[in-house]
Amino acid sequence: MSFIVLEDVRRVFHQGRPDELTAVAGVSLSLAAGAVTVLRGPSGSGKTSLLALVGGMARPTSGRITLDGHELTSLPERFLTEVRRRTFGFVFQQFHLVRGLTVLENVMLPATPLGIPRAELARRAAAHLDRLGVGHRAGARVDWLSGGEAQRVAIARALVNNPRVVIADEPTAHLDSKLSLEFLEIVAGLKADGRTVLIASHDPLVFEAGLVDRTITFRDGRVEADTR
Ligand SMILES: Nc1ncnc2c1ncn2[C@@H]1O[C@H](COP(=O)(O)OP(=O)(O)OP(=O)(O)O)[C@@H](O)[C@H]1O
Ligand SMILES: [Mg+2]
Repeated sequence: MSFIVLEDVRRVFHQGRPDELTAVAGVSLSLAAGAVTVLRGPSGSGKTSLLALVGGMARPTSGRITLDGHELTSLPERFLTEVRRRTFGFVFQQFHLVRGLTVLENVMLPATPLGIPRAELARRAAAHLDRLGVGHRAGARVDWLSGGEAQRVAIARALVNNPRVVIADEPTAHLDSKLSLEFLEIVAGLKADGRTVLIASHDPLVFEAGLVDRTITFRDGRVEADTR
């Protein structure tokens, strides 16, 4: 049942320099397929760093990560990119929307390399935006969105590839409680579809939600508590 496995994973920034910093200090974890897991912990405890490693956006300084029995850690860059595109949907803490493009274009972006016909992709992207209550902003440039709108566009973009794994970093940080509950409904739908969801969050509305299967608390780059 272990879908994503981390073995003694470390991530060190500026290694060997005076400002060396260990963001992830030896984490071993095994995440089940189809489960909703929340990472908690104080600011700077390594949550975002860990999500980046799991999603193949960064490589560990040491340790091993496997996805469905396949090792990610040693994959050449272009294969890692391919796995990342096909497997993961990301909601970044700082959104990372592409300025100058419209909302709809931003949502379509991660799926563009997959060769899905453009009309089909636009339809799918629009459906996700509608579901999140930002369909009316589809043609607007992302530059002018409010924080809450940008967050919802970022969530729609994460879902457009139908990813097996959704990784969301503080997805409710800019949402009011009504929209946060809507986000949780979307997560419930993802879980019902059998997708694996990994969320970093400070928000009690998220980590106390009934649909959460497991809460892992980080401190100083290490797992401090693990509750199922
Ligand atoms: N690119 C980087 N270069 C150097 N240090 C970094 C880098 N990214 C993160 N860090 C450091 O790694 C540590 C962990 O950061 P990380 O962003 O993973 O924490 P976090 O738990 O997500 O915090 P927050 O709750 O504020 O989002 C912090 O001390 C941070 O300053
Ligand atoms: Mg973070």
